[in-house]
Amino acid sequence: MIAITRMSYEDIPSVYQIEKRVFSLPWSPEMLATEISNYPRSVYFMARAGEEVLGYAGMFVFADEVHITNLAVSPKHQGKGIGAALVSQLFETAFERRVSHLVLEVRQSNQRARKLYGKFGFEEVGVREGYYEDNKEDAVLLCTPEIKNPYFRHKLNKMRQLVFQKGVELNSPERLILAIESTCDETAVVVVSNGFRILASLISSQVDLHRTYGGVVPELAARKHLEMINPMIAEVLAEAELELKDISTIAVSIGPGLVGALLVGLAAAKSLAWALNLPLIGVNHLEGHIYANFLEHPEIEGSFVSLVISGGHTLLVYAPEWGEFELLGETLDDAAGEAFDKIAGFLGLGYPGGPLIDALAKKGNPRAVDFPRALMARSDYNFSLSGLKTAVINHVVRLKQEGKEILVPDIAASFQEAIIEVQVNKTIRAAKEKGVDKILLAGGVAANSALRERFLKQAAKEGIGIFYPSQVLCTDNAAMVGGAAYFHWLKEDFLPLDAEVQPNLRLGR
Ligand code: KG4
Ligand code: ZN
Repeated sequence: MIAITRMSYEDIPSVYQIEKRVFSLPWSPEMLATEISNYPRSVYFMARAGEEVLGYAGMFVFADEVHITNLAVSPKHQGKGIGAALVSQLFETAFERRVSHLVLEVRQSNQRARKLYGKFGFEEVGVREGYYEDNKEDAVLLCTPEIKNPYFRHKLNKMRQLVFQKGVELNSPERLILAIESTCDETAVVVVSNGFRILASLISSQVDLHRTYGGVVPELAARKHLEMINPMIAEVLAEAELELKDISTIAVSIGPGLVGALLVGLAAAKSLAWALNLPLIGVNHLEGHIYANFLEHPEIEGSFVSLVISGGHTLLVYAPEWGEFELLGETLDDAAGEAFDKIAGFLGLGYPGGPLIDALAKKGNPRAVDFPRALMARSDYNFSLSGLKTAVINHVVRLKQEGKEILVPDIAASFQEAIIEVQVNKTIRAAKEKGVDKILLAGGVAANSALRERFLKQAAKEGIGIFYPSQVLCTDNAAMVGGAAYFHWLKEDFLPLDAEVQPNLRLGR
């Protein structure tokens, strides 16, 4: 693990060694000592692995700005992301100091540094001619946009997460969000740090409870949530080795979902927020499903199209950037997962049907039966699945009447194929029309292996990247809610304590 710590006087000799090797005009030990003594106006950090110093960076706070005064990585350790870690640290400190911009100058010829700062959103705003004394080289002036802007901060948090994934621990306080998910038949709680890092995540599925009925029974679901919620909150804190006092924000899914189930989660969240005097954030469950992609792929940047396919929902949205959603289309009747569950029930496979059909279809021929591809030829982005369901049922009934053999794997594979073909084609068409190069799959049905494969294959031809969360983040979970909540926190988008659940909440305009 690489740690970032504040620089002290004892560090000056090793810093000076690197300074001499990296810069043609190195700072003297006396200059470094002066900088350290100027704390808190000057702040200097070291990146180290145990005793070894890998790099360092410093800044000076002036009015509403932070000037980055120095940044160097030991030549031995360049190219390992240490520069990015140090820049992330300077940003964290800038946020704590509530400044508006970061500025610096860099040598015209220093392409490596210009590229690094560019990744963090710095823009080149001017040139100081002949600024450097040794060779009269020009300095390029770099400045960030307003860093209090939530979009900018969100982008930076992604950089922070990438730094963490490279094994660097930054030196700054974290915002720990405790989030609750109880929209349908999973009770889930999580603690997420700064929108990305999952400290502990628990999911209690009610599948066994509802199996006898072949679907979710709303009243039973609500009662089970009520039974589970408090013990699970206690357990998630224990697992994260935290206490309630460490939590900085409470978040909850406020819809769409079953009203009784939602009420349990919202009541628990409100109680915690009120008792601990913490901000409360309401998250749209569908937005959460899409956000699950960012938990594992913080590198996703810019606009995208997302297909949300779950037990209760099937919709296609366009996002010009994270947090802004335009609804392109949705199902006019059944949701994709619902169709999987109903057909699996009809075929006597069990519940929930998605994973069972997924597995069985691997043994069948997807071209055995030509089931209808509803709305495929239509230029809009809506879906319809109830006709397909009826077609499968009629087909099986006819075979029975005619005394013919029913090859269940073939029917499962052909049914799945009919769903996949429409979903993949419409989604890719939407991506092309919107001119985006990324498709984010979300929701329980995004766990389907044939669907993922088809998307990857077909999108590759169009130069479109496909993202999807791992299985456990596809189906309902609280990490997606706690992650998405962080962006609401940045925007100061809080929920009043008298807020109500929104069973029919929609996503996008
Ligand atoms: O997102 P989710 O957990 O709940 C809702 O918000 O609705 O999705 C559950 C749905 C179920 O209908 C389940 O059958 C389906 O996701 N599902 C799958 C697969 N795994 C889960 N459908 C197709 N293939 C799968 N591998
Ligand atoms: Zn869901």
